[in-house]
Amino acid sequence: MKILRGMRDLSEDNAKKMEHFLSIATKNAQNMGFGLIQTPLLELSELFTRGVGSSSDIVSKEMYSFIDKGDNQVSLRPEGTASVVRSYLENKFDKQKQIKKYYYHGAMFRYERPQKGRFRQFNQFGCESFGVESVYEDANLILLCDKIFKDLKIENILEINSLGCDDCMPKYKKNLQKQWLTYKDDFCEDCHHRIDKNPMRIFDCKNKKCNETSLNFSFISDNLCECCQNDFTKLQSILKENNINFIINKNLVRGLDYYSKTAFEFISNNLGSQSAIAGGGRYDKLIDILGGDIVGAIGFAIGIDRILELINMKETREGIYFGSLDEIYIDKLYSLYVQKSDKEKVFIEYTAKKLQKHLKIADKRNARYCAILGEDEMSKNSIWIKDLEDKTEKIISFDNFLIN
Ligand code: HAM
Repeated sequence: MKILRGMRDLSEDNAKKMEHFLSIATKNAQNMGFGLIQTPLLELSELFTRGVGSSSDIVSKEMYSFIDKGDNQVSLRPEGTASVVRSYLENKFDKQKQIKKYYYHGAMFRYERPQKGRFRQFNQFGCESFGVESVYEDANLILLCDKIFKDLKIENILEINSLGCDDCMPKYKKNLQKQWLTYKDDFCEDCHHRIDKNPMRIFDCKNKKCNETSLNFSFISDNLCECCQNDFTKLQSILKENNINFIINKNLVRGLDYYSKTAFEFISNNLGSQSAIAGGGRYDKLIDILGGDIVGAIGFAIGIDRILELINMKETREGIYFGSLDEIYIDKLYSLYVQKSDKEKVFIEYTAKKLQKHLKIADKRNARYCAILGEDEMSKNSIWIKDLEDKTEKIISFDNFLIN
């Protein structure tokens, strides 16, 4: 039996890094007032076709969709935002304009072409904030993401853009469609579909010729209405005040259709072509698309699998390895092991062995201490301990051993 293409098991090493990442990300999110939300892996497909948008690659090409036994057209979630919005609206929090801040983490599914850093099942850590329209909240989410990366010592480049609002974005799109007609033969087939459904996505195309040709068009960020321009300028000044370096990427339009105003991505130069480590933005209109009363909404998601590649964890020795020199001491050894497990990481070897063998196994398990029971120790109600880091040895009474 083989694992499915694009899927992978979490290795022991990556599991440690994942726990480390989650503890830091969770702590930072909680400090900023975010609480955990869990939504199902499976949702009605319509949530994503309406929410993420039918022009996005995610919905048009990459969803794991099927009809369930109740005849429902369902999909494995390709991202977390649409589900969190669904939950916010189902609870009618939009009617009361409630401020809610959530974080979540878990598996997402996209049937993409697998490559380094790109999987068909991958993990995201996301934060979503509802009910706040102020541009300070846009900055707040960027600051939170930046804090997580700083705590993890992950170098990154922050790119920001503004995509305009319901006032300036539609006018800009119409104009873009008009200008496009002059150059349409220079664009790829995908862009021909994009120009009808979500024209701004031509800036996102990976095709070099499309990129070059799109330089003939003016960018959305040069066509913002007064309100969007003021917010975008304010966002930049808040980021500067808080010592967050950023660059304005006028090509940044994001691959999901629901964004307006602020859009941002964090990029790492140490990953190869799949370099985006987080992405997000404001998505007030997604609430409207899914039938709610418009409230401010902004969030981001970090790609955990890519972060695992960037976390350097020093291998440190930890825990106590327990072994005995004769089987008759196993009962006592087991009792010490169980009591000590209340306080520390412990390992036990049930088969009696010679001292050198125990020391070898303890070393392999990366234990800090090797604790051994033999005839001598038993006669003194004590246990022999070797610190495998500083190589010191001592015999210590059972009572003192359990207290420390
Ligand atoms: P996204 O840009 O599609 O945004 O994904 C966010 C991050 O997930 C990416 O920057 C990347 O690190 C990671 N990622 C995406 N696809 C894959 C893949 N196939 N394999 C490995 N990692 C991947 C969203 O999903 C939005 N929901 C973010 C958001 C939250 N916007 C507002 N709130």
